[in-house]
Amino acid sequence: LPTLRVAVLGAGTVGGEVLRLISQQGEELAHRVGGRLEVIGVAVRDLDRDRGEHVPAELLTADAAGLVRDADLVVEVMGGIEPARTLLLDAMANGASVVTANKALLAQDGATLYEAADAHGVDLYFEAAVAGAIPLVRPVRESLAGDRIQRVLGIVNGTTNFVLDAMTRTGADFADALANAQQLGYAEADPTADIEGHDAAAKASILASLAFHSRVRLADVHCEGITQVSAQDIAAAARMGRTIKLLSIVERIEEENGERISARVYPALIPLDHPLASVSEAYNAVFIEADAAGSLMFYGQGAGGAPTASAILGDVVSAARARVHGGVGPRESRYAELESIPLEEL
Ligand code: NAP
Ligand code: HSE
Repeated sequence: LPTLRVAVLGAGTVGGEVLRLISQQGEELAHRVGGRLEVIGVAVRDLDRDRGEHVPAELLTADAAGLVRDADLVVEVMGGIEPARTLLLDAMANGASVVTANKALLAQDGATLYEAADAHGVDLYFEAAVAGAIPLVRPVRESLAGDRIQRVLGIVNGTTNFVLDAMTRTGADFADALANAQQLGYAEADPTADIEGHDAAAKASILASLAFHSRVRLADVHCEGITQVSAQDIAAAARMGRTIKLLSIVERIEEENGERISARVYPALIPLDHPLASVSEAYNAVFIEADAAGSLMFYGQGAGGAPTASAILGDVVSAARARVHGGVGPRESRYAELESIPLEEL
């Protein structure tokens, strides 16, 4: 079997699980791909920390730039805009295919990544960037590419759902529920991107871009987080037979002179008999409405190392198969179909 050289950028919550799955399932993956996946290095900041049996110390490097130059396939799970952006552009310029979980980068500068993938004839996959383990990017980008999606709506942030769910179940206030989520490892030490809605907004911009064949950036998404939701709000919602969930909604809006896109994230009142009301803990759930397909519902673990690594490994297999057997993965639509609605008009 041919060998594919895989560079992994990052060995944190997600990267550690990616490396565990590659190491434990190496033989099976080789059969599925038709080629062996050889991890040639793992870029991290701290070379001295012991990272367990699946992240051998001899693979660790602080030279991420050098590592990507030698790879056929780059798995980016370091996060942040830079140096991730430059590393991925360099990787593609060197002919490597890229798998990334980096929703912040895709939301801010996805167009540059798509263009680089096109220019260099390599694949760019990012299933893990939206809703963890739930297959959502592939259905929107590929399975429904021949349909006409009208709306994508749901819960795409696990941390805020965990906090709101705890507030609803226990009557705790926001600060206590957040502190508990941090203690249990659901919320990060710095949970700002989650609780302010920025993470959900990044995911909304990715979904809107794919669903409407347009380029919807983070700045186009109206964004309200959950920091202002109080225990009193939750109790008042319950008295009305409702619960509060952080929703991401992207949809086509009919206007007199055509159609535009609305993309928004905000805490919404959900009737208790709606399926989204019973999404608990850090789970995600998303509805897609399309003209021919009708309404589709997706549900599952939207965050965490192993669920996210599952989505990444799926992308790795797709990208590796294409390299072994030929062919290209999905491409960005060739033109921007719709404009998004400026915030001041929402
Ligand atoms: P994390 O635990 O903070 O891990 C980040 C890893 O990247 C660490 O190993 C870190 O090295 C390394 N790193 C960061 N900056 C680096 C740099 N400049 N050079 C070399 N290495 C660098 O993050 P994570 O939770 O695994 O998330 C990774 C990515 O997946 C992010 O884009 C995140 O948004 C996305 N994602 C995460 C989840 C989730 O549930 N955690 C779900 C979906 C998507 P050190 O270990 O040495 O610090
Ligand atoms: N912080 C994110 C969440 C991770 O809570 O949903 C998954 O993207």
